Amino acid sequence: MTQVAARTAGGAILLDGVQLRDETVAKIKAKINQAGNPKICLATVLVGDDAPSHIYVKSKHQKAQEAGMTSKGVNLPENSTQAQVEQAVATLVADKQVHGILVQLPLPKHIDTEAVLSLLPVEKDVDGLTEKSLGRLVRGLPGHVPCTPLGVVRLLERHNIATVGKRVTVIGRSALVGLPQMLLLVRRGADATVTVAHKSTTDMIEVCRASDIIIAAAGAARMVTAAHVKPGATVIDVGVSRVNGKIVGDVDFEAVQAIAGAITPMPGGTGPMTIACLLENTLEAARMLGDF
Ligand code: GUN
Repeated sequence: MTQVAARTAGGAILLDGVQLRDETVAKIKAKINQAGNPKICLATVLVGDDAPSHIYVKSKHQKAQEAGMTSKGVNLPENSTQAQVEQAVATLVADKQVHGILVQLPLPKHIDTEAVLSLLPVEKDVDGLTEKSLGRLVRGLPGHVPCTPLGVVRLLERHNIATVGKRVTVIGRSALVGLPQMLLLVRRGADATVTVAHKSTTDMIEVCRASDIIIAAAGAARMVTAAHVKPGATVIDVGVSRVNGKIVGDVDFEAVQAIAGAITPMPGGTGPMTIACLLENTLEAARMLGDF
């Protein structure tokens, strides 16, 4: 597509996640339509009353429907037992009409998350977060890749930002983002030289300044400043923190956009891409299960 990318006031290319999500949703809808509109279903499991989680899940259902999929939401009360949560997941696993299952995290503290996730078969694990899916990513076997780091890769691809031979710093080492992000970028094809920085990294500015691409996924409000960025580098913000009731990212956007070559807006960057990739994985789940 030869669309001219928008730029920030300082001239950096804006890596617009809303636009790419909308393109992705439209493409998925067209594919489902061409296939004669088979029923492809994304199911979510949400436990408790965490307001942001309810907003995220609602938006996942909305976009699944816009993409021509069906969706099913199982909401359980905060005081659900381990057995009740596991039963809800097991029911969706056994349901042949359900293709993808997403267990919204974090689960309440009294729930053993690993035990719940371990119930998901590789085919239906559209979040790619189980030990089997992450193990497949390490081994280079087919399986679903976690949605947020996959969304980052899709944004880079869409804007022709090369990773081969480039230095990338990922800030944060979570199983949700940092670690799978490192694996996705270092594997053959992407071929980046990846550094994973974290709380104990003492020379954070130097490490970041030596990078062609910085992916900030630490959950530390505006920690990436102009001092961290080499002129022309790509800066991707995955962080979400709440400061005085406002959502802020890990990147000080105003300062960094004046130096970076490309930058994600916040909001409107990696968040929408997480949902786009969830739908991409759900379509793939239907394919793996022989229904698409
Ligand atoms: N909580 C925050 N982000 C995510 C995500 O990508 N998947 C799930 N399951 N829970 C989350």
